[in-house]
Amino acid sequence: MLGKDYISNLLSQMTLKEKAAEMTQLWGENPDGTLMGILRGFHQNEHLSANAGSLLGFCGAQRVLEAQRLHMEESAHHIPLLFMTDVIHGYKTIFPSVLGLGAAWDPSLIEESASVAAAEASVSGVHVTFSPMADLVRDARWGRVIESTGEDPYLNSLCSAAFTRGYQGDGIGKPLHIASCVKHFIGYGAVEGGRDYDSAQIGDYQLFNDYLPPFLAAVEAGCELLMPGFNTLNGVPCTASRRLLQEILKDFMHFQGVVISDCTAVCELVPHGICEDQAQAAALSIGAGVDVEMVSSSFYDHLEKLIETGAVSMAQVDGAVERILTLKDKMGLFENPYKDASPQKEQELHLCGKHRQLARKAAAQSLVLLQNQNQALPLQNNERIALIGPYADSRKLLDIWGLVNGKEEDCVTLYEAFGEHAACAQGCRLWNLRNLEEERPSDADLIAQALELADKSDKIVLAIGEHPDMSAEAGSRTDLELPANQIALLKALHDTQKPIVTVVFTGRPLVLTEIARYSSAVVIAWFPGTEGGRGIADVLTGRCAPTGRLPMSFPRATGQAPIYYNHLPTGRPNTTNSYQPFANGYIGIEPGPLYPFGFGLTYTEFSYSEVTLSCRSVTCTAPSEQKLLTASTVVTNTGSRTGEETVQLYIQDVAGTYSRPVRMLKGFQKITLGPGESRTVAFSISPRMLEYYIPQKGISLEEGTFRIYIGPHAESTQYQEFLVKGGY
Ligand code: NOJ
Repeated sequence: MLGKDYISNLLSQMTLKEKAAEMTQLWGENPDGTLMGILRGFHQNEHLSANAGSLLGFCGAQRVLEAQRLHMEESAHHIPLLFMTDVIHGYKTIFPSVLGLGAAWDPSLIEESASVAAAEASVSGVHVTFSPMADLVRDARWGRVIESTGEDPYLNSLCSAAFTRGYQGDGIGKPLHIASCVKHFIGYGAVEGGRDYDSAQIGDYQLFNDYLPPFLAAVEAGCELLMPGFNTLNGVPCTASRRLLQEILKDFMHFQGVVISDCTAVCELVPHGICEDQAQAAALSIGAGVDVEMVSSSFYDHLEKLIETGAVSMAQVDGAVERILTLKDKMGLFENPYKDASPQKEQELHLCGKHRQLARKAAAQSLVLLQNQNQALPLQNNERIALIGPYADSRKLLDIWGLVNGKEEDCVTLYEAFGEHAACAQGCRLWNLRNLEEERPSDADLIAQALELADKSDKIVLAIGEHPDMSAEAGSRTDLELPANQIALLKALHDTQKPIVTVVFTGRPLVLTEIARYSSAVVIAWFPGTEGGRGIADVLTGRCAPTGRLPMSFPRATGQAPIYYNHLPTGRPNTTNSYQPFANGYIGIEPGPLYPFGFGLTYTEFSYSEVTLSCRSVTCTAPSEQKLLTASTVVTNTGSRTGEETVQLYIQDVAGTYSRPVRMLKGFQKITLGPGESRTVAFSISPRMLEYYIPQKGISLEEGTFRIYIGPHAESTQYQEFLVKGGY
């Protein structure tokens, strides 16, 4: 690192036009692979191409080495380029989709996977990844729920910090680490109706308590960059919101890194309806605190004029450029512009055995077992298995973010993985539903073929689900059901009376009411990544037991969306299991989700004793007091196999100045117990777990009654109460 003086000196030599170029990120290449930006042909502007600060989506060691060499020769001050791309859940070795990683409830797994992703990306010349996505998501219609770790601020915070630590390690200048960009600040997950790019309305109470914590956690973990969301929040596009990017991000959260717009989001301020033209869009976003404009060129095109008219100050421009150059310096790029880029290391690291092994473990850990009637799972050694369905032998195991740099041909299918398991090698047959893309009723011939195969088998493994294109960016849906032809297939197979294990591939919570009715066992596989087939086979055959837990509630009907466990109580709660007139809910369906947040079965069962508290009343007047009391329960493995349980702690603040959520996850512990074994699981209750943000006042802990729930998911019923006196 060369330091502050070096950067100031460099800055003092740059012209305004060069500064504007430094604040611009160009596409690295056309979709057809032809090169742009530094290697010419994009803006048709030699000066911008030669002096741009960064490239988007341009990677591969050989190409980066060449592009950086050219850039160092041609740019006015020999300032190295930053290469940024979307490394979302793996670079070449692809881990399960982020929602699946969230389902593992294991921040250390996320950290490890992010560190592998960073290593693979860095040797391909990548310096920055646009991850983690810290958006809180509650509406399964929104396609981008797949990129989030779910509906809970606490779990999301642990995960976003873990991603950041994994990418950045103990320093972004160190070998095999890259810088992390947390996104999309803020409220993108709350877009109306789950429609992508739509607007969000969130009051400060929910903004600070629910949406902000995962961003704060990433910032506190040292995240170097942040991206504002495409959406408007309370009428102002995030890209142009000084309140968000200055008052909340810098003043409140103390973020000091680089703010980069989302792709063309600066230009989009015009269609958003807050600017007349791109010059105004540039002025507004720079004024709000955006340092880098991604892909569009309004900064570059208009900055000189904006400085002349005083719409943008030189101090704002210098601040932005200084932050960008400081990031480059922290990465050591002024000393070595190529950092880790190395074709030889790509050979060594990409998809190496160790990385594949971790991806396999992550795929297994991300699976959530929702139903297991008559112990349909694990599959037994002597069983003949009919493996049927569109995902039975499919390599479509990557979501669209996995496909940025990962390849389907590197994926191991479920069929191939079954073949490697002695347990299944015998009876396993494949039947593939043609044309996953088409949502049309199954044709009778295909069903007949499936039935024929099912007839010769003892059990059916049915691999069905959404197509990967049906989620992620621009993947919003009005319908959370599976395609009708898949349901028809399931029903036809059900008529054989053979046990059916349904494995559901999905990028979001789906309505599984019919799937559950016609299946013996139901497993959620998300999009499981390169080693997905093996990870799933490991769980189905009992090589590993399922341990995943839902990071989002699964609804009973699409019309329930958004549905989430930590909602506010209503004046008319429905505490029964059916529709009640004049109580909260919908006509004709049971209240609540089909499967709650935190839910997931394994191959054994656990019982919980009553919750016990070390005291019933505490006095707390300052946030510094570390432990107020202990809450515990005794968990017993009542089944016949060793198993892992995720013991979850939820707290409810019974009455506050603001209506408080019905419960909030505040901790969890994973324990492994042998058959018949019991263990006391204790949680220390700290003031931080009880406090919340009160608008106009700040972080507070209010006197009154609190309820502590300890159980296996967000609808567990065991609780005890205690009183807090004092408060702050
Ligand atoms: C648009 C997406 O919203 C964002 O998440 C992504 O990082 C950028 N494009 C760059 O690809």
